[in-house]
Amino acid sequence: MYPTLKPIVRWVGSALAVTALTSSVALAQNTGKLKVGFMLPYTGTFAALGIAIENGFRQHVTELGGKVAGREVEYFKVDDESEPSKATDNVNKLIKRDQVDVIIGTVHSGVAMAMAKAAKESGTLLIVPNAGADAVTGAMCAPNIFRSSFSNWQPGYAMGEVMAKKGIKKVVTITWKYAAGDESVKAFKESFEKGGGTVVKELSLPFPNVEFQGLLTEIAATKPDAVFTFFAGGGAVKFVKDYAAAGLKANIPLYGSGFLTDGIIDAEGPAAEGILTTLHYADSLNTKRDNAFRLTYAKTFRMQPDVYAVQGYDAAQMLSIGLNATKGDATKAVDISAALRKATIDSPRGPFTISASHNPVQDFYLRQASDKEKENKVVGMASAKLADPGRGCKM
Ligand code: PHB
Repeated sequence: MYPTLKPIVRWVGSALAVTALTSSVALAQNTGKLKVGFMLPYTGTFAALGIAIENGFRQHVTELGGKVAGREVEYFKVDDESEPSKATDNVNKLIKRDQVDVIIGTVHSGVAMAMAKAAKESGTLLIVPNAGADAVTGAMCAPNIFRSSFSNWQPGYAMGEVMAKKGIKKVVTITWKYAAGDESVKAFKESFEKGGGTVVKELSLPFPNVEFQGLLTEIAATKPDAVFTFFAGGGAVKFVKDYAAAGLKANIPLYGSGFLTDGIIDAEGPAAEGILTTLHYADSLNTKRDNAFRLTYAKTFRMQPDVYAVQGYDAAQMLSIGLNATKGDATKAVDISAALRKATIDSPRGPFTISASHNPVQDFYLRQASDKEKENKVVGMASAKLADPGRGCKM
């Protein structure tokens, strides 16, 4: 008599079951422990950078009482060795095996690009606490991918303007041949040549090689007005020392993005004295915010903080802002993005905002290395509120 009743009852029943299922999944997504996966270099030329990032991140989570958006934090760790060929397997350990809610990583641009691809495909929240690969907040941009650091374009572009304004005309560039080096040099060249300078030679060697002798001989023979460089970590220490030992320092001033001297000024010693660099952090900001951050960091970890520690700290701040907006649900990328786009991050580096492609819009300081004071001192503002152009980003 009521031929349609049975299907209706069945439909109502299954709809209720679906509702129950979705709400229990939703519950599982924003309650219970928040799984944070660090994918960072813990070995190799960038090992100290990975440790500083993890320290900074943990420092902010500790300030939050060990919880982000009310969820207790549980950490997972993978050493990526700054090795792009292992990056996809490594990131899948966190995504598939550990099923983390958010990935914090990494330092190396080539590794970060593989991570961004995996994050985009799986929808896992990713906050990049260093690697500058332009594509991460450019062509590969996505609602669930953010950066708390910089794009390779930013410090290079800032330094090109500084050097052109100084009236420097002929420059040789030298770097590692991979995304970070190539993109830093390209951005430097963009603003330096716009300002009337010329890059007369672009030298490079494979990452992470440190056999600089042949290239230093070539610089001496070319006799440029100055040299612009991107090196970082252990490789930067060797380069700065070799440059001075080759007798080039006195005659051909060395400039670079701030990674050349940040966090490694002690290891570089007198060879670093006077080097001018551009970066979104410095040791002598002397603000209340930075002084408090530095004091806690030094007491907790028994070492001085650097730009990497700040970027790790701010990755945790960004995570907290994003997840507070979704009541702890790390899968709601669009809502996390909306909250971060509206926010001003109260960073030790100075306040910054997040661009439409999810990269910090921030001040770039001109800094000078002081060996005596073991500090990268602010000597001016190279570029205020500098925004990466976000080329190729469609979100
Ligand atoms: C990078 O590979 O993007 C990179 C590595 C180390 C730095 C900065 C950038 O200090």
